[in-house]
Parts: sequence; C-alpha cells; structure tokens
Amino acid sequence: MEQLSPASTLTDAFHGLGISVWTEDWRAVGQAILALRAAGIDPVQHLATAPGELARLHATVQVTDVNNFTLELMGMPDKRMLIGSLAEVVPNSAQTFARWFAALARGDRFYRFESRVRRLDGSLRDCLVMARLPQDPEGLARLFVCVVDITGYKADQMRLTEAERAVDRALRASAMGLVTAAIAHEVNNPLAAVVTNAEAALRWLRRPNPDTVEAEAAIVAAIGDALRARDVVDRTRALLSNAPPRPVALDPHHAIRDAAQFVQRELRLAEATLRLEVMADTPRLLADPVQVQQILTNLLLNAAQALVAHDGLREIALRARPHAAGVLIEVADSGAGIPPDRLLRVFEPFYSTRTDGIGLGLAICRTAAEAQGGRIWVSGAPGSGACFHVLLPAAP
Ligand SMILES: Nc1ncnc2c1ncn2[C@@H]1O[C@H](COP(=O)(O)OP(=O)(O)OP(=O)(O)O)[C@@H](O)[C@H]1O
Ligand SMILES: [Mg+2]
Repeated sequence: MEQLSPASTLTDAFHGLGISVWTEDWRAVGQAILALRAAGIDPVQHLATAPGELARLHATVQVTDVNNFTLELMGMPDKRMLIGSLAEVVPNSAQTFARWFAALARGDRFYRFESRVRRLDGSLRDCLVMARLPQDPEGLARLFVCVVDITGYKADQMRLTEAERAVDRALRASAMGLVTAAIAHEVNNPLAAVVTNAEAALRWLRRPNPDTVEAEAAIVAAIGDALRARDVVDRTRALLSNAPPRPVALDPHHAIRDAAQFVQRELRLAEATLRLEVMADTPRLLADPVQVQQILTNLLLNAAQALVAHDGLREIALRARPHAAGVLIEVADSGAGIPPDRLLRVFEPFYSTRTDGIGLGLAICRTAAEAQGGRIWVSGAPGSGACFHVLLPAAP
C-alpha cells in the first residue's frame, strides 16, 4: 500500500480545505517594528502620523502562496494573480494593513477581523480574516492567514436583526394600543360627568329667572370632573408603565362616597339603588386615591350595566370592612351573576359579553389592585348576582 508522506498530507489539506488559506511573508514589517521600538518610538503612533511609511511597509508584505479554495473565493482563474506584493494583489487593503500592523506591534497572539473582499468580477464578500501571530520575527516569514466567507451568515444575521426589530415595533405598537384603549376607557366616565354638569349649568342660566348660585355649583362640579379626567389619564398611564405607586392614607367613607358620586348618572339610567356601608373599625386604606376610584367606579359601572335589562330587584351594595390583610371592599349586585367557569376569565383584557363593551374595565381593576399590593376576585352563585371583592392594604 502506498504510504502518504506527512508533507504531501499537509499539502493535500492545504489545498483541499474548504476555507481560503494564504501564506504571507511579513518579515520586513516585523523588522521595522523592532527598529522603531529600539529607537524608543511607539510603532503605532509613529505610523499613524506617517502615511508614506505605512504605504511603504504595506508594499513589503509578500503573498507567497494561496490554496485552491482561495481562487474560488476570489473568483480568479490563476494562482499567479494572487502571488506578489499584498498591496498589489489585494488593492484597497491599506486600511486592513494598518490593523495588522497594530496587532503585530501590540504583540497580539491572534488577528481576527471582519473584512470585505473584492472578487475579480467586482462583487464584494464579507469575510472573517484570522491568523495566529508568531511572537518571533522568523515566524513572520510564513504567516498563515485563513479567510472564511461569512456573506450568507451576515445576511442571515441582518435578516434576524430586522425581524427582531419588527417584533419589537409590533410589541410597542400593541402596548401603546393598550395604553390608549385603557385611557380612552377610563376618561369616558369623567368626561360624561363634565358634559352632564355643564348642561345643568346652562339650564340654570337659561331659566326666565337664571339661578346663578345653582349654575355656579354645576360649573364647579364640571371643573372637578375635568380635573378627575386629567388625573385618570395620568394615573392610568402610570399604572401601565409600572411607575411607582403613590399611596396615601384614605378614609374608607370618603373613598366609597366619592365612587358613588361618580356613577350617579349610570345608576339613574339603570334605575338601580345603591347602598353604602362601612363597618365599624374599618381602618384607613393605603393606596393611590385616583386608582382606588378607578377600581370602584369600574365595578359600580359593571354592576349598573348588569342591572339595566334585569327583571327583578335592582340593587347594588358597596361595602367596606376590616380584614386580616387590610381593608376588604365589596361591590355586590342583584343581577344575573357570572357563570362559575367565567369567574377568572372576566379579568382578562378584551373579554366582554356586552355588545358595547371593550372588556378593559376589570383588567384595569386587577392591574390597579395589584399595583397597590392588593387583590381582586369575584364570587356569587348564578342567579344571585355578582360580588366583587377588593382587598387593599390598610394604613398603619
Ligand atoms: N356585575 C357583573 N355582573 C355580571 N357580569 C359581569 C359583571 N361585571 C363584569 N361582568 C362580566 O365581565 C365582563 C368583563 O367586564 P369588563 O368590565 O372587563 O368589560 P366590559 O364591562 O364588558 O367592557 P368595558 O371595557 O366597557 O368595561 C363583562 O362583559 C361581563 O360579562
Ligand atoms: Mg366594564
């Protein structure tokens, strides 16, 4: 059997490899670096200010051999086109030469950089250029440089980055959409109240004997509602952007009375009666006042809406009582209730069974309750109405 000599095995590997390999002679550059160092000159700084010297050294680098695959990479038919001065066989390599020079002058052990290589037909390929840099000047006589074509890989990476950006944009847009929808949802109630109060003021003024006292009271109320709309926009945005909460100690009587006040119009439309009840010894709440109002008004609006077309008793109870973990507020109605399999689903965003519902009310309630460090859940047997429970921390 024919034995392959180690030398011929290496030559086979050299030419058979699917990567481009160049052998280059960098001795003149190595000597120049040594000479500059011996003269106490920093080689990198020196060459940065002496472009002529850089070009001269560049021309001294000789390409002594390339493997067969290099011809494929460069689109060149003949090896002789690549043998000779690096500056001539690879035009436009001056910039990469400066990088090589700096790596050698620093004493780096590896050179690894991305470069663009121009093929004979003028097309450009993205390549990774690598070499192990010898530490002794003699090693520079035969420097092995590997060149890997990464054009396809780079294109894939670009596509991946572009796809990631597209996903990011879509996520931002949908998050923005949610914020916008939530704000639109929450300003509805205060804006309707502004209109109601402003209309009332007009009616007082247009009487044969205008009642300016009543008109003024209605305008003051309208201003209050407009300020509430502004706060609601501010606190809804804060809620959805994870801004730190602003808890204050709240009297449960006030919290409950204010919420009832805000839904007067809807209660009238539903012809529902509202009962308020605060048990003795109910401590003060520790929560963001605007967000507490958002929770309670959403629950009261839902209760009123559940009663609009309801045959039978139309009652809502809004209660507050002490609880081991804080203050428990309950909104119970005498409507049709919620089937057991939907008790969790009703809190999901965009879940709605109402023809004109968006399905955001309870999702906002849950986010707001949890932002206070609290909890919200619903109970109630079908037919006996729904009861929403909100547990909020108590002030110390
Ligand atoms: N008190 C209630 N009685 C019966 N069903 C209720 C009650 N409250 C909520 N639900 C159910 O939960 C669903 C979701 O309520 P949610 O407040 O999140 O949205 P919505 O009221 O439908 O619309 P909107 O976004 O305008 O508030 C309602 O569509 C309804 O099916
Ligand atoms: Mg609702």
